Amino acid sequence: MGVKELEPSHKPLSGVVEVPGDKSISHRSVIFGAISSGVTTVRNFLDGEDCLRTVAIFQALGVTIEKTNTTLIIRGRGMDSLSEPVEPLYFGNSGTTARLMIGLLSGLPFFTTVYGDPSLTKRPMDRVLIPAKQMGTVFDGRENGNYLPLAIRGGRLKGISYTLPVKSAQVKSAVLLAGLLAEGTTEVIEQTRTRDHTENMLQAFGADVKQHGGVISITGNQKLQATDIYVPGDISSASFFFAAASIVPGSELTIKNVGLNETRTGILDVLQRMGGAVEIRNEQITGGETIGDVTIAYSKLNSIIIEGDLIPRLIDEIPIIALLATQAEGTTIIRDAEELRYKETDRIAAVMEVLSLLGADIEATKDGMVIHGKTTLHGGNVRSFHDHRIAMMAAIASLIATDHVILDDDSSIAVSYPGFFTDLEKALHR
Ligand code: S3P
Repeated sequence: MGVKELEPSHKPLSGVVEVPGDKSISHRSVIFGAISSGVTTVRNFLDGEDCLRTVAIFQALGVTIEKTNTTLIIRGRGMDSLSEPVEPLYFGNSGTTARLMIGLLSGLPFFTTVYGDPSLTKRPMDRVLIPAKQMGTVFDGRENGNYLPLAIRGGRLKGISYTLPVKSAQVKSAVLLAGLLAEGTTEVIEQTRTRDHTENMLQAFGADVKQHGGVISITGNQKLQATDIYVPGDISSASFFFAAASIVPGSELTIKNVGLNETRTGILDVLQRMGGAVEIRNEQITGGETIGDVTIAYSKLNSIIIEGDLIPRLIDEIPIIALLATQAEGTTIIRDAEELRYKETDRIAAVMEVLSLLGADIEATKDGMVIHGKTTLHGGNVRSFHDHRIAMMAAIASLIATDHVILDDDSSIAVSYPGFFTDLEKALHR
């Protein structure tokens, strides 16, 4: 636990910052590197707690992975080389590790037990168990197998056609990973597009995966070939800087090498619609993913409505968007985002508590929030709910607050952005 006293700054942010590698892509680079044949080198890997859980899990399954700073060397020997782990596998706080690994373990011919930290233990797992059971996996676990800890007896799967009942890239990826190990073809149908890093990476590792409209299909029992991966900067981490530069007068900040996959850039669309000053330069494609440099300057913001298909494109950015909305003229409405209630914490309740404590005019709804701006934020004692994105939102709020913001615990930030405060200090030139 680390109490953090955040001083109001009001200093503009300027210069250039480079945020760490993308969390979603880092997880997937380990998974695909570990199940393919040959040596995969991953550069700019996110050295955060969540992604390190995924590394530790594959080491426990018998894969050799060497790590030097943000470079990983994964010595893959194919799916058949994975072996039954002796000890239970620990997912920590990481929902992505949990959902994707449950998908993969479903198709491996051995027994595993898996568990997580207190936050992950409260998050629903039936969303991945339901399709995996249809494919043939046998599970047991707490509350009829809906929650961790779980026991998994994997192997001998049959391909299915599965329509996603939740807008979730984690569920889509879990079914595709199980499909990779199944007999026949597996089809996932998504009504709303979610992040497509799994599909991109499957292609990069030479898999036969097809996408037509909202239907993604994969042939089972394929062998993947190792490839090298460069992980783009995480747009979800960069969003804290986009927001900071937008609300602190006099700021102009460039964030370099940011992942700009269009399934993730909802935050930039929102900023532009709110009247933000956004410029994108040096766009290029690497490993199927677009990257570029983003410059954001301070600007007067106006309120907007955020809903529908836009939500999965910015689901992790809603806490920081709520802070932006407190500084926008008018009423911002966020809806269709009930999924926020099932993240590291109930993010609708957490955002509501933190921002109202700091003086915002905000109401929680069943599937979102309504924020009336513009309001001055004052200081106060706030809780992080052990959620990295809530803690970083509070830190950015402190930049414009009239008094100190005291955060009960900043340790969760290490999940996705261990160097966050160092980079923030750099942008503030303190
Ligand atoms: C992720 C997908 C999202 C996101 C999470 C990472 C992924 O979850 O919130 O931080 O890497 O696939 P859902 O797809 O379950 O909404």
